[in-house]
Amino acid sequence: MLKQTVKALACAVSIGLAGLAHAADPIVIKFSHVVADNTPKGQGAQMFKKLAEERLPGKVKVEVYPNSSLFGDGKEMEALLLGDVQMLAPSLAKFEPYAKSVQIFDLPFLFDDINAVDRFQASDAGKQLLNSMRDKNITGLAYWHNGMKQLSANKPMREPKDARGLKFRVQASNVLEEQFKALRANPRKMSFAEVYQGLQTGVVNGTENTWSNYYSQKVHEVQPYFTHSDHGVIDYMVITNTQFWDGLPEDVRGELEKIMEEVTVAVNKQADDLNQEARAAIEKAGTSEIIELTSEQREEWREAMAPVWKKFENEIGADLIKAAQDSNQAN
Ligand code: LMR
Repeated sequence: MLKQTVKALACAVSIGLAGLAHAADPIVIKFSHVVADNTPKGQGAQMFKKLAEERLPGKVKVEVYPNSSLFGDGKEMEALLLGDVQMLAPSLAKFEPYAKSVQIFDLPFLFDDINAVDRFQASDAGKQLLNSMRDKNITGLAYWHNGMKQLSANKPMREPKDARGLKFRVQASNVLEEQFKALRANPRKMSFAEVYQGLQTGVVNGTENTWSNYYSQKVHEVQPYFTHSDHGVIDYMVITNTQFWDGLPEDVRGELEKIMEEVTVAVNKQADDLNQEARAAIEKAGTSEIIELTSEQREEWREAMAPVWKKFENEIGADLIKAAQDSNQAN
């Protein structure tokens, strides 16, 4: 009897100590992403780590894994849901399996510029999308900008017919697939980590991305032509596992939310500069020509891609599309 009581006491003490040790351990937030550090998202993740560890010393540790070094496209969402990572910032093109409405950001020529994207994200309709996946255990914490997309290829593209028959890498998005089909080109879904090699070996002939993603992945080494088209947007939703986030001590969660707001303002302010610097660096490298479109040529691209809107109107919602269009008017 005595033996049993001693054993039970020892067990209780050890659980108690484990609890104490646990309480003293910092909460680890693994933040995984697919791009380089010298991009808007890469910088944002670093800034979040710095501020979280400065302001919550000993309480929170943030481990940032850039360049698909922990999980790449196709695996990172699953990892978030399994609790293997706690934060991600996938491009908005990668949410189709979780929220059809988020596909809105992929509609070609929907937003006139990044300021319109910003206004839509700040609107009630935009903010609601951050919470649209909570039933799937995904909570959106913020939108981060990268910027407007440009086209690239192994031949000059001035008019939509120049894209005909070419193979284009697209993100895992049905809207983007349809966008290239509308040009009578051949889209191919491919993870970000495979883009350089895909272009180098000719598996694909062209792609679309932002200047900062092009430059940081050295895409200019394997693409002799870029077209400054601004035909769409690559932005991010910073997401977390809802159960993890809701389970954080209230003071920690509150501070992390404040930090996220601060980082979001900084990322969104510097994203355009990073893209312009990357464009200038591509020009300086002298490997590729950057084609500027006339307004008539740009209009032709818009018309050629326009049928995509109708195809996705039901899935996305006509009201949401209208709200996004309205954001093109400055208040
Ligand atoms: C992509 O082309 O897959 C990019 O959107 C990756 C990223 O996260 O910017």
